[in-house]
Amino acid sequence: MQPVTWSKDYSIENERLDDHHKLFFDLFKRLHDAVTDVNSTEDFNNILADLGKYAATHFTYEEIHMLDISYDHIKEHAAQHAIFKAKIKEFNRIRNVVSREPKLDLLDFLNKWMQGHIVGEDKKLAEWKQTLGKTSTS
Ligand SMILES: [Fe+2]
Ligand SMILES: [Fe+2]
Repeated sequence: MQPVTWSKDYSIENERLDDHHKLFFDLFKRLHDAVTDVNSTEDFNNILADLGKYAATHFTYEEIHMLDISYDHIKEHAAQHAIFKAKIKEFNRIRNVVSREPKLDLLDFLNKWMQGHIVGEDKKLAEWKQTLGKTSTS
């Protein structure tokens, strides 16, 4: 799997949330480099810590946004966020493990999250907003 660059196609029509998603794509690339490039200076534990911060900040804003636009699948969507947070916690337990496998597992998890959640579920928020004819930049 190769790092993907964020593009307008992934926009969910909210600048702040799009910026958060761009940050996620960067974190994915950093982890990809850390795992695949022997010369990388990226530190796995730093990336893990940044992923934890990303989840805490981004999910809060995104859930507020869902309330703002009266999204009708908030519960299910927020449940996926909770799974992501739990997964990061789980990886924190093995943060000092030297072997490569858990790092590859995290990379795989993030890749699936990017494809399934950000490009799939989050994108539905923009479609929902369009259906309602609402606009929001907060
Ligand atoms: Fe998101
Ligand atoms: Fe989300």
